[in-house]
Amino acid sequence: MNPAPHGAGPAPFTVPPPLRIIENAPLQRLNTFGVSARARRLVVLEDERQLPEAIEATRGFHARCILGGGSNVLFASDFDGAILLVRTRGRARIEDPSPQADGCSLVRVQAGEPWDDTVQWSLAQGLAGLENLAMIPGSTGAAVIQNIGAYGLEICERFDSLRAIDLDSGEIRHFTQADCGFGYRDSVFKRPGGERWLVLELVLRVGVGLGPVLSYGELRARFADQAASPSAIEIDRAVREIRSSKLPDPAVLGNAGSFFKNPVVGRAQAEELALREPGLPIYPAGSGSGTDQAKLSAGWLIDRCGWKGVRNGDAGVHAAHALVLVNHGSASGRELLDLAGLIRDSVHGRFGIWLEPEPVIVGRL
Ligand code: EPU
Repeated sequence: MNPAPHGAGPAPFTVPPPLRIIENAPLQRLNTFGVSARARRLVVLEDERQLPEAIEATRGFHARCILGGGSNVLFASDFDGAILLVRTRGRARIEDPSPQADGCSLVRVQAGEPWDDTVQWSLAQGLAGLENLAMIPGSTGAAVIQNIGAYGLEICERFDSLRAIDLDSGEIRHFTQADCGFGYRDSVFKRPGGERWLVLELVLRVGVGLGPVLSYGELRARFADQAASPSAIEIDRAVREIRSSKLPDPAVLGNAGSFFKNPVVGRAQAEELALREPGLPIYPAGSGSGTDQAKLSAGWLIDRCGWKGVRNGDAGVHAAHALVLVNHGSASGRELLDLAGLIRDSVHGRFGIWLEPEPVIVGRL
């Protein structure tokens, strides 16, 4: 076992709450699509000291799944296995014996903390750096697993390290930036074998030294007339406004944000497509990809195929953003997946590109 370098774990002198285990558990309120499904067993982890008992309670099932805020998952059917629901809480600034030269601080956040609360907490501490990622639903642990990104920033750019437990062996390990293998909406935890790791706690690097990130055009435009650089609070407010204007609030209309990843293709293919399809947005492919790669906009491709606002029963495509599938009421996971399949086929038919789903699909396909 590698000790965590920044100290770890909850206060040792209190008694952990009793572990909650629910059989045949309803999942509708635990996924932001609001899809109705059940799990054979749900185990709610509220305190790290419950880990041995919680891990034991998920053994003996032929499938196991870890759930955070449920904002990046689609239950395609009932889940014939055990779900470990992460609800651990706690955030703290780390007293750094060798303070960062750029005035940044390290903060420690338990995986179960809601991500947007973490952004707000950090701003309230006077620590900038997370504001471009404001309002993203989900938990802090899940945020790092899929390397959330929005408005010019990915969480890996604010990442210091994390602590995770191997659910199979019980080993607790410290992961550095390099260990996590971050990519576009990707990390080692999403790749084969990665699902055995339960992220317990992350350490983020935040602070005034970081300066504003204004690479996203619409965000930059908002401050174009302002002489001084926008503060972190101003960027947070602007991001909230932009997000609310485009993306549906899951509390009002079930959704899981972007349903597909933006496809990364060869630059030659992107340029050839742009000749055929005037207005096709082409972006740099991002860190880890060579310059011979380009990222296209899945929302634009789907929109051009005429899907915006389309509805098949209660499964639909959001009227303001073609990349977001929505549940208008009682759509099943199966119905949403069927709609996603039709969209995929039509984008492939017109552009020759297969879109890849962003959420994790759980259950029988
Ligand atoms: N577009 C259309 N029609 C649409 C939607 C978009 O033509 O219906 C065009 C836009 O006009 C723009 C381009 O597509 O030119 C890109 O759209 P947008 O800026 O909204 O961003 P996105 O690429 O669709 C990504 C992330 C979002 C993130 C935004 C902002 C992915 C899969 N999605 O969306 O993340 O909020 O950028 O940075 O990378 C999420 O992952 O769940 C998510 C919401």
